[in-house]
Amino acid sequence: MATEQGLPFGEKYHPAIQKLMELRRESLENIEEFWDKRARALIWFKYWDKVLDDSNPPFYRWFVGGVTNITVNALDRWIETPVKNKVAYYWEGEPGDTRVLSYFELWREVNRFAKVLKDLGIKPDDRVVIYMPMIPELPIAMLAVARIGAIHSVVFSGFSPKALADRIVDAKAKLLITADGYYRRGKVINLKKNADEGVRLAEEQGVKVEKVLVVKRGGLNLDVNMVEGRDYWYDELVKDVPYNTYVPPEPRKSDDVLFILYSSGTTGKPKGIMHSVGGYMVWTYWSFKWTWDPRPDDVMWTAADIGWITGHTYIVYAPLMHGMTNVMYEGAPDYPQPDRVWEIAEKYRVTILYTSPTAIRLFRKYGDEWVKKHDLSSIRLLGTVGEPINPDVWKWYYEVVGGGRTPIVDTWWQTETGAAMIAPAPGIALVPLKPGSATFPLPGVDADVVNDKGEPTKPGEKGYLVIKKPWPGMLMGLWGDPQRYIRTYWQRFSKPDQGIWIYYPADYAVKDEDGYIWMLGRADEVLNVAGHRLGTTEIEDAILAHPAVAEAAVVGIPDPIKGEVPLAVVVLREGYKPSKQLEDEIKQTVRKVLSPIAVPSRILFVNKLPKTRSGKIMRRLIKAVATGAPLGDVSTLEDEASVEEIKRAWEEFK
Ligand code: WTA
Repeated sequence: MATEQGLPFGEKYHPAIQKLMELRRESLENIEEFWDKRARALIWFKYWDKVLDDSNPPFYRWFVGGVTNITVNALDRWIETPVKNKVAYYWEGEPGDTRVLSYFELWREVNRFAKVLKDLGIKPDDRVVIYMPMIPELPIAMLAVARIGAIHSVVFSGFSPKALADRIVDAKAKLLITADGYYRRGKVINLKKNADEGVRLAEEQGVKVEKVLVVKRGGLNLDVNMVEGRDYWYDELVKDVPYNTYVPPEPRKSDDVLFILYSSGTTGKPKGIMHSVGGYMVWTYWSFKWTWDPRPDDVMWTAADIGWITGHTYIVYAPLMHGMTNVMYEGAPDYPQPDRVWEIAEKYRVTILYTSPTAIRLFRKYGDEWVKKHDLSSIRLLGTVGEPINPDVWKWYYEVVGGGRTPIVDTWWQTETGAAMIAPAPGIALVPLKPGSATFPLPGVDADVVNDKGEPTKPGEKGYLVIKKPWPGMLMGLWGDPQRYIRTYWQRFSKPDQGIWIYYPADYAVKDEDGYIWMLGRADEVLNVAGHRLGTTEIEDAILAHPAVAEAAVVGIPDPIKGEVPLAVVVLREGYKPSKQLEDEIKQTVRKVLSPIAVPSRILFVNKLPKTRSGKIMRRLIKAVATGAPLGDVSTLEDEASVEEIKRAWEEFK
């Protein structure tokens, strides 16, 4: 199935590609008709007056006038069908404890949770920040928030109190839902402590969450501090809520906000990416169907954290809208042994496994024996997302994990796009695969590769990925910052005076002679560390939180496992001397202030950063030194000695 050198015959006419192209043509030639038909696969309280309102680009609005609630499509619709008793979640904790929730039980728990939220005074459009580990109450809480028409903003539980505070403040959250703690690599993490600190820091910035709802993970013996009148144990509130409680789903306008999810940008301030009730619902439903070809006996395991978009869409909303059984796992995939991931896949007879290149590279490093110990014959599709996948890693995944029978579904997309945009589409027709290429855009996605001027590139010529038409799952905008939305995504290639609006995802890409798209990494100052987006400025800000640091510059350098890791170049303040201890202290600061993911692999101390004459840090040169690439144009460099210094520091480090 996988071929390396192009395709054996008349590729453009390969029947699978042709079928995909035809559906795509239909979707782009008559956008409104195409989506009008498909949106009816979902349940609405009221159909739309207009499929796509493009009167105020780039603020596109979908299914305008439509009214629905996504939880009806994820839950209520199954209650009158046999899916009612099907497993929605097989949950497994890191220590091996398990829970199983059927669709009926999930629906019931969402209703009970929704009742608790209502009693706490949560109203439609209120923002609820959810800072929870991977326990069943996380999807339950999200669905309960959506059911009552409030807006959830999930913050990854590995994020620091400061990152939590920044998000609480930006969203002006009324309620925080958290948990006492969770297991990670055999240790118990006290999440409530971080939550308290986050709430305190948010208060310092003038945003006071009114209440904090604390879920017990169960089995932990944690010393948890509860603030009188502010903090509530969820189990104490829910114990008086009857099992047959029904909270009617709040009718939501299609262009209301379903959730906000923060993502890193090129400045220190994270972007609050907003997704809409109707557009996100329709797009994730169809993108999922095309990408995974769901079948009634599937067991899907998206081995990601719900704190990221991959978990939102592929552990919660889309698979539930398809009535699928999901696996949800709390801990590290290689704990206590490197084959934990394969053990879980075997135990639950997983049919679709979706993970990241970083994870695959790690499992590959552990060696084939760990995989071969397990019977993985239930798997029929293997997915990957988050970064470009190296062809060698692709082949290992295909041969060793998939036994050469399982297509690799490489999906390109972003927090902003809601669900997969470029991917082989077994749900339409499986195109011949090429290791390392996400293949073709799905229907509805007018993707292309263009050069600096916005002209389509020739085959093999590196350029930028763009999307030339709106699609239902596109972000609605950035919470509280419409100008930044335009600047970040639309300024680069649009020609507003000609009525041309082009979405810019900030990724490099190349198209080959067969029309396959190959993704080549970020084109902006955002790092992709183990599949997680981190802004260089964000990490630099965290480094600057250490009192010894005067200036800092961060670049991403290649790493065999994580894809990319941050390298920091630091200028110390007067009176401080470089030392190993200081390096460790600064790393510790980054861990505390931002996140363990953001900790630089190495800190180089110098007296001067390479800057342009106008004072802009030339990160490009740092990267060139660290990767051995040519320096390129250095005419704007203020002081050449600064590059020499980095070279020296880098050599010493190596
Ligand atoms: C990168 C994750 C190559 C890309 C769903 C994008 C990929 C960013 C792929 C979004 C892929 C994601 N091949 N690169 N299959 N999938 N990316 O918002 O740079 O966390 O812009 O969404 O990840 O990351 P985000």
